[in-house]
Amino acid sequence: MGYHHFRGSALTRSEKIQAKIVRLILGSSPLAEKGESSREWELKHSSGVIAFARLFAQKRGVDTELAEIAAALHDIHVVLEGTYDSHAELGAQEARKMLSGSGDFSDSEISSICEAIASHSKKWEYSNTPLAEIIKDADCLDCFMYGEKVYDYKPEAELAHYYNRIVRIRKELSLPPIPYFNARLDELEEYL
Ligand SMILES: [Fe+2]
Ligand SMILES: [Fe+2]
Repeated sequence: MGYHHFRGSALTRSEKIQAKIVRLILGSSPLAEKGESSREWELKHSSGVIAFARLFAQKRGVDTELAEIAAALHDIHVVLEGTYDSHAELGAQEARKMLSGSGDFSDSEISSICEAIASHSKKWEYSNTPLAEIIKDADCLDCFMYGEKVYDYKPEAELAHYYNRIVRIRKELSLPPIPYFNARLDELEEYL
């Protein structure tokens, strides 16, 4: 038998969550209406963050399955409500309900995933929790794929940490430096 292509009953628990997120995004009226994000972007962004989270997990020796699931769910509040207000903390609560309801996850897995979701907006916090750091870095890497200035609406004190992360991530992945990122990091160094 060939690959299931996300059809049928042979999906893993990570694939089930990923499929659920795709369906939620495609069916999200708030995303279609509110204007803070869109179904199109959330679909692209969740797919990108899942792929990068899996890569970081492989590179850093972290559980790839939990990394994929946390990545799939990290912006679930935006998907459900169409707004970024407190979306990390509220999304962690929504993810907890979904994961508990599925019956597929242990309490400690749910806690790890939800902790990573709850903290993902705090890019200025460098935690000792590998899963949480993977979600922050995968989020950062994916967003910077849409342009070097994609986060420039943020306050400089916060922005410094986005540039700090992207410069560090590109080194970790042996990608060539992007001069704009390094220049902005130099300018904003006082905030680190
Ligand atoms: Fe987010
Ligand atoms: Fe995100």
